[in-house]
Amino acid sequence: MRLDRFLSETTPLTRSLAKRALKAGEVRLNGERVKQPAVHIRPDDDLVIWQDEPLALIGKRYLMLHKPLEVECTARRGLYRRAVDLLDVPAVERLQPVGRLDVDTTGLLLMTDDGQWLHRITSPKHRHDKVYRATLAEPLEGSAATHAVAQVAEGLRLDGDDMPTHPATLTMHGPREAKLAISEGRYHQVKRMFGALGNRVTALHREAIGPLALDADLAPGEWRALTDDEIALF
Ligand code: URA
Repeated sequence: MRLDRFLSETTPLTRSLAKRALKAGEVRLNGERVKQPAVHIRPDDDLVIWQDEPLALIGKRYLMLHKPLEVECTARRGLYRRAVDLLDVPAVERLQPVGRLDVDTTGLLLMTDDGQWLHRITSPKHRHDKVYRATLAEPLEGSAATHAVAQVAEGLRLDGDDMPTHPATLTMHGPREAKLAISEGRYHQVKRMFGALGNRVTALHREAIGPLALDADLAPGEWRALTDDEIALF
């Protein structure tokens, strides 16, 4: 692997900044200062040091975060903390959320730097159900609940969307406690679906994505790496 590419994959440096760091003599290869970006290295055997830190390639990462309230799934810094700010891992800015959650939604957020794995989960082709627990502003029970369950199963027209929602599964667990499993990921979809039913979501929590449920041992704000078996689910 070329040294400049190795630097760009193991540090926050872009390829051109890596070349600049090399030119400035900031990089040591097996103890020797090197300045040529095209030098070939063997990442497993050679020791590359930049800013007094030995560098190592980072493999693909697959993490599960219990997203708390008031955390955004954006890359840009804004009003709230970002999901990546909760993760204490190197090159954190390379991690992307697998399907965003609103700032006021809690629950299961997967983060990865494996674009193909992310695509397998989010692509509509694969239809992985996302399961949400929603607290409703208005009670939904009796025949109104039965009607809502049927409407959701059939597909709802959402304001501004041409196509009705894909068939989804609504179950009621109390007059204001609903579980909704949807296979799509439209903008604010769950809130808009309950809006289309004449109701309003006051709290929203994602419990699962396909066969993978949020680890009950993770408190809001905590995260862990997925196991190999969990990664292989998608
Ligand atoms: N649907 C919503 O309305 N919000 C979310 O955060 C996720 C799904």
